[in-house]
Amino acid sequence: METQAVPLPQEWGRSAYRSFLQREGLPLIGGLAVDDLKRVEVASWPRLDARGAYIQLTGAEDTDGAYVLEVPSGGATTAEQHLFEEVFFVVGGRGSTEIWNRAGARRSFEWQTGSLFAIPLNTFHRLHNGSGREPARLLAVTTAPLLMNLLHNVEFIFACPADFTDRFNGEDDYFSQPGTLYARPDSSQKIWETNFVADVARLRLHDWAERGGGGKHVKFELANNALVAHASEFQVGTYKKAHRHGPGAHVVILEGQGYSLMWTDQHKTFDEVSWKPGTMFVPPGLWWHQHFNTGSTPARYLAIRWGSTKWKVTRYFDHQGIDKNAKEGGNQIEYADQDPRIHRRFVERCKANGVQVKMDEFVPSVIARSAATKWRSHREAP
Ligand SMILES: [Fe+2]
Repeated sequence: METQAVPLPQEWGRSAYRSFLQREGLPLIGGLAVDDLKRVEVASWPRLDARGAYIQLTGAEDTDGAYVLEVPSGGATTAEQHLFEEVFFVVGGRGSTEIWNRAGARRSFEWQTGSLFAIPLNTFHRLHNGSGREPARLLAVTTAPLLMNLLHNVEFIFACPADFTDRFNGEDDYFSQPGTLYARPDSSQKIWETNFVADVARLRLHDWAERGGGGKHVKFELANNALVAHASEFQVGTYKKAHRHGPGAHVVILEGQGYSLMWTDQHKTFDEVSWKPGTMFVPPGLWWHQHFNTGSTPARYLAIRWGSTKWKVTRYFDHQGIDKNAKEGGNQIEYADQDPRIHRRFVERCKANGVQVKMDEFVPSVIARSAATKWRSHREAP
C-alpha cells in the first residue's frame, strides 16, 4: 500500500522553553555576557507579582537558563513550585525565603547581598523583601530549559503533586546546618555540601594549586541538586590556566577587574569579555576559556553550573579533567603550552592599568617562553 506524504506541520521544531519565555513576556537578554546584573532592566512580572528579566546566553545552549528577579520593597513573590532545579544568588538587598512541601513541613531563612541558596526540588517557595525602602535583586539559574524541552508540558512542571523527600524532608536545620567539607582524592579541590552560603564574597576559600594563578576556590553541592556552584579567587597581576567543559556555567564576577578569553581550537581569534563586579558570562560548551586579573585587588567569581560531583548527568555536562593537562587527556592548557599572544596581551593590559605582572611567582618559564619565536602550541600559531 502506498502512503501519501503530507507536509510537515508548521509548529514542529518548537522549543517548549522558548515558547514559555515568549508567554512570560519579560525582557530577554542573549549574547555571550551581561555587563552588570545590578543594571539589567526588569519589567513587571504578573505571574510572580514581582519584576524580572530572562537571560538566555549563548553558552547555556538551552541546557540551563537564568533570570533576574526583583522583589519590590516590602513585597513578596507569589508562591510557586516547579520540577526544575533553581539556585539563587543575591545580587543586592536582603530578605527571606519560605519553603514548604505538601506534607506541611515549612522552613524559612534570611538572606542578604552575596547569599547563595537552592530551592529544594518542587517545594513551594516564596521570597520576601526584608527592606521597606530598597528592592531586592536576585539572580536565579535553573534547569528549566532542559526540563521543559524534555517534558513539553509546562503546566505539569508547575503543578506536580509530589514531595521529593530525598531532597527535602522537613529537616529543622535544612538551611542552617554547617554541612560537610569534602576533599577530592585526585586533586586539591574542596567540595562543601551545604544548602545555604551567607556571603560568597567573604567566604574563606581553599588553595587550588592545579589551576594556577595562586588560586583558591570551593565547590558547593546544594540541595542534592545536579545544578551546583563554585567560588574562585585569584591574585593581583595573575591569570589562571585555560580550561574547557560543557555548557551552562554562569560565571558571576563578585570582586575585581579583568577580562576572560574564550576560543575554540577551530578559530584563531579570541572572544574577550571584560568584567567588573556584576558581570556575568557563560563560556559555550567545550570552548577554552581563561580568566585574567588586571585590577588592583584579588578577583573573585561565583559560577552556577552543571558538574555536580555527587550526581552525574551526562559526560557533556559533567566537568571532567578540568584541572588535568590537555596533553594527557585532560581539559586544561598548561602555561607552557598556551598561545604566546595570551601572555603578551595580559602584560599589555596590566601595564595600561599600572598593575605589576606577578606570573613569574608561579611559572618563571612563562615570560621567557612567550618571547620565543618557536612556540609549541596546542594549535597553530597565527
Ligand atoms: Fe570554566
